[in-house]
Amino acid sequence: MVDSNRKKNRRLIIMVSGRGSNMSAIINTCASEKWPIEIVGVISDCNCPALQIAHSLNVPSFICDRKLFENRRNFESDLVKIVHKLAPTLIALAGFMRILSSDFCDVFNNRIINIHPSLLPDYKGLKTHKRVLQDTKKLHGATVHSVNKILDGGSVLCQGIVPVHEEDNEYTLAKRVMEVETFIYPHSIAAILSGKVKILDGNWTEGSMDKDFPKFNFQRNYFHPSFKNK
Ligand code: GRF
Repeated sequence: MVDSNRKKNRRLIIMVSGRGSNMSAIINTCASEKWPIEIVGVISDCNCPALQIAHSLNVPSFICDRKLFENRRNFESDLVKIVHKLAPTLIALAGFMRILSSDFCDVFNNRIINIHPSLLPDYKGLKTHKRVLQDTKKLHGATVHSVNKILDGGSVLCQGIVPVHEEDNEYTLAKRVMEVETFIYPHSIAAILSGKVKILDGNWTEGSMDKDFPKFNFQRNYFHPSFKNK
């Protein structure tokens, strides 16, 4: 009884549209760290590799195919039904390529997070690695943030910071950023679902960690290991 109550409060949905690197990292880290988090479903808006991976990892997967709907309103109305049925505590967007309406955000207020491949508020939007290289920036990274009505504008929970090397191209830089993404996203999710952090009035604040959750390291800023080798 106690165990099922505990799980009920740590129900995670992952929403995807693509490769599924972040999704796989979340599923695998929850399993390897034995975190008491129940991944109740992976939802995709298209037939993508992430869905096949979720299936192969025995996580229930659902498709709400955007192409089959006339407009965003109808699409989201079905999406909301799927999400409601799964009764999530938290929804993690992991490469979900649809902009969610403010109505959707309102329904799941404070329960949606995203990972964006830049150090927000810098480089909102797409093609972040390319723009960082064009601007000859020395630092880049990824941000886990809450999702609200403003695109890539929610409160920042955690950032993974990577160096940009002179010889970098989009591929090498994206690969380094992905190395921090796949670390900070699972750990941010654990921080939220263990109570270690909570959102108050739209801002992340320190909480108190649930006693039944295994201890783990969480920092708001995480530096790529290659900084140490310099
Ligand atoms: C990642 O770069 C993430 O930051 C962004 O979309 C990409 C998803 O990649 N939101 P993947 O599907 O996790 O491989």
